[in-house]
Amino acid sequence: SDAKKIAVIAGDGIGPEVIAEAEKVLKRTEELFGYKFELEYGLFGGIAIDERGTPLPEDTLAICQKADAVLLGAVGGPKWDTNPKELRPETGLLGIRKALGLYANIRPAVIFDCLKEASTLKPEVLEGTDLIVVRELTGGIYFGDKLRREGPNGQEAVDTCTYSVKEVERIARSAFEIAKTRKKKVASVDKANVLETSRLWRETVIRVAADYPDVELEHVLVDNCAMQLLRRPSSFDVIVTENMFGDILSDEAAMLTGSIGMLSSASLGEGSFGLYEPIHGSAPDIAGKGVANPIATILSVALMFRLTFGYHEAAEAVEKAVKEVLDAGHRTWDIATDKSAAIGTGAMGDLIVAAIKA
Ligand code: NAD
Ligand code: IPM
Ligand code: MN
Repeated sequence: SDAKKIAVIAGDGIGPEVIAEAEKVLKRTEELFGYKFELEYGLFGGIAIDERGTPLPEDTLAICQKADAVLLGAVGGPKWDTNPKELRPETGLLGIRKALGLYANIRPAVIFDCLKEASTLKPEVLEGTDLIVVRELTGGIYFGDKLRREGPNGQEAVDTCTYSVKEVERIARSAFEIAKTRKKKVASVDKANVLETSRLWRETVIRVAADYPDVELEHVLVDNCAMQLLRRPSSFDVIVTENMFGDILSDEAAMLTGSIGMLSSASLGEGSFGLYEPIHGSAPDIAGKGVANPIATILSVALMFRLTFGYHEAAEAVEKAVKEVLDAGHRTWDIATDKSAAIGTGAMGDLIVAAIKA
C-alpha cells in the first residue's frame, strides 16, 4: 500500500507532550494531501525502564526497524539519573541510533525574522543566519570503551574516543552533499591541535573535499567555533563535526534561533529511512505543565516529509504554517518577549495545524 509506517516513540518528560502536537500535524496533512500514515507506538526511555526493565525493549526496536521513519520525543529525567549505564534512558537513545545505523544527524538552525528579539543575541548579529550542524552520531567518545578502575590515587574513570577513516569519510560526504545544495561552504570542526582522532578527521575531510571543488572548506578548532558561532553566525553554512562537539555546538546554535525548543533534527544512514526528533531533551523542569514549545518536533515532521517521504509540498506547507503563526505573534513561554501572553503546547500545535494549507 501507499501508507507510510511511522514508529512513534514519545519517551519521557515533555516527549509525549510535543509528540502529541506532531501527531496532529500528521493527521492534518493526511486530510489535506491525501497521504496515509500508519502509526505504531513503542515504549522507550525511562518509561520503558519502569515498565519493561530496559530503555530500549526489543519490540520497540522491531517497530522502528519495520517502519519507514521514526518520530521520537525525548528521554531521560532525574528519576533515572543515578541508574547504572544499562538502565539509563540515554543508553536506549544511543542504542537506537546505533542499531538503525543513523550516523548523520542533521540539525538546521534557521532564524525566523520575527523571532530575532527572542534570541539573547543582537538582531544585527543574527541577520541572515541559516546554518546546519551535521553531527556524526554513531561514533566517537559516546561509543568508546568505558571503565572504572582503581588507580594509584583511588578510583579513576576512562572514556575512549575512536574514529575510523570510513566513519569520517561518510559523514564528510553527507556534509559536502548538503553544502552543494546550499551556500557551498563547509566548516569542519575539530580539535586537531590536541586530539589524534581530530587529526585523522581533518586529513580525511581534506581528502573528501577534493571531490567537491565547488564547495569552500574551512577548518575551525572547536573552541574557536563556539566563539565564532556567537560572533559571526551568519557566515556559517554547513558545520560538520564529531559526535560530542556536534552535541554541544547544536545546543549553542539553537539559542541563535531564540530557543532550543525551535531546533529539529533528522538522523540518517544509507537510504531514505530516518529518525526525526527535536534536539532538546525531556525538560524535567517544565514537564507536565503544558508549556513546552512543540515547534522543534513539528519541524522534525517537516524534515521527515522532505527527507524520507519526498513529500516536499507538505514539508513546505508545515514550515509555512509555523512561520505564519509566529509572524502573527503567537509565542510559547520560551520564545515570548511578553511572558504573560505566552500560550501553551496544545494551543501552539492547534494554531499551526489550522494554518497548514494544501
Ligand atoms: P533539556 O533540553 O531537556 O532542557 C534544557 C532547558 O531547555 C530546560 O530549561 C528546558 O525547560 C528547556 N527546554 C527544552 N526543550 C524545550 C521546549 N521544547 N520548550 C521550552 N523549553 C524547553 O536538557 P537537560 O535539562 O540538560 O536534560 C534533561 C534530560 O533530557 C536529561 O535526562 C537528558 O539526558 C535528556 N536529554 C534527552 C535528549 C533526547 O532525548 N534526545 C536530548 C537532550 C537531553
Ligand atoms: C541529544 C542528547 C543526547 C546526546 C543525550 C541525551 C544522550 O543530548 O540528542 O542531543 O548527547 O546525543
Ligand atoms: Mn544534546
